Amino acid sequence: MSAQEVDELIAQAAIKAKQETDDEPEPGLTEEVEWPVKASLGRGLEGAISNTTKIGYVNGAKGWLIYRGYNCFDLAEKSSFEETAYLLLFGKLPTQSELSGFNDKLIAYRNIPDEVYQLLNTLPTDKSHPMSALATAVSALGNFDDNADEATVENETEIAIKLIAQMATLAGAIARVRNGEKPVRPNPALSHAGNFLYMMTGKTPDALSERIMDAALILHADHGMNASTFTTMVVNSSLSDMYSSVVAGIGSLKGSLHGGANEAVLYDLEEIGSPENVKSWFAEARAQKRKVMGFGHRVYKAYDPRARILGPIAELVASKDPETKNLYATAVALEEQVCSVLGAEKKIFPNVDFYSGIVYKAMGIEPAMFTPIFAVSRISGWTARALEYLADNRLFRPRAIYVGPVKQDYESIEER
Ligand SMILES: CC(C)(COP(=O)(O)OP(=O)(O)OC[C@H]1O[C@@H](n2cnc3c(N)ncnc32)[C@H](O)[C@@H]1OP(=O)(O)O)[C@@H](O)C(=O)NCCC(=O)NCCS
Repeated sequence: MSAQEVDELIAQAAIKAKQETDDEPEPGLTEEVEWPVKASLGRGLEGAISNTTKIGYVNGAKGWLIYRGYNCFDLAEKSSFEETAYLLLFGKLPTQSELSGFNDKLIAYRNIPDEVYQLLNTLPTDKSHPMSALATAVSALGNFDDNADEATVENETEIAIKLIAQMATLAGAIARVRNGEKPVRPNPALSHAGNFLYMMTGKTPDALSERIMDAALILHADHGMNASTFTTMVVNSSLSDMYSSVVAGIGSLKGSLHGGANEAVLYDLEEIGSPENVKSWFAEARAQKRKVMGFGHRVYKAYDPRARILGPIAELVASKDPETKNLYATAVALEEQVCSVLGAEKKIFPNVDFYSGIVYKAMGIEPAMFTPIFAVSRISGWTARALEYLADNRLFRPRAIYVGPVKQDYESIEER
């Protein structure tokens, strides 16, 4: 068959397509979509409903965050990250023996192949962003898992548990490799939060740091149909594998409008320098129509409950760390300034990312690692929701309202 014959086949197919659909009315392309439901455009999918869920609920007007019916204040105070991850995945608080079994699995799964440590050493991690390294490393883990491609709830649940355990190992290793240090292997005697800090710093954390990290991980575990959760679910809905889905989630979380805001907040606070400079800095940001990082939310039109907890924790740690004291004072002044101007008018308040960075900074963690910490926690929400959806899967496939021309005559390149 010649190349010209292929051209003819395509031309005939076009004629057939036209003949078969000639009687169909032309669609009103720029109007509301009438089929299968009447819908109008909400930019950024604002207001769009993607599915039903029993995993978690955010009520933006009341400032509620609920996982499986339990409010985040109760969980942050009384639960542990391990227990919360179990709750998200399996729908109930575990009994003592269920929790021990889950813990044992997490501990066993903390180890990652040597090749993945070696791979991290080949990346320019001193220059690249740790979230990019994290995505590469999770993708690599998928290559080493013989069961990666079996898209059943049972198999993907096991992978979810592996990834909850291993995300901390990867982030810990990346934190060290970035600084030219050797990764430290997981310590099975430590809790998930304690071991994560240990793998980042190489030192067994004190009880206060471990408790604060545990609370931070609980508070970041799930948050409705946020961008990275939706991204993870979209990829998983094509019956791709859980590793690929999570890589996509990491990419989405990295952006400064989402998880990357916690890092951006710290740079803003450092740029402001001290509480006295807040007013002029904010005036300039307003004049440039710059968003203030760590403020505002698509869903919350009340104070973010996670910020209600992380704010006082930031105050506590800052009071013990002279280097962070000024950052905290600057943050408080910025909150007062932003809320007095935008709070009543636009319902803009601090979100989860505003105070978390100060907390991590006081624990000696560098800003580039703030978003990976978010991923170490959110992996539980990503996988729980992807698994819930997989149980009654339907490919995500929205539509766009086409606003371009429809009948252009193709001109050869010489005629253009
Ligand atoms: C989170 C965020 C992306 C939500 O965005 P959104 O729902 O698309 O909201 P919009 O960008 O449409 O903002 C609505 C209005 O509030 C303003 N606004 C929202 N967040 C703002 C912020 N952080 N600083 C200043 N103004 C803000 C917008 O300028 C807009 O004002 P306008 O109506 O006069 O144009 C947005 O608030 C933001 O960029 N915040 C900073 C980044 C951040 O902290 N992200 C982490 C979220 S947990």
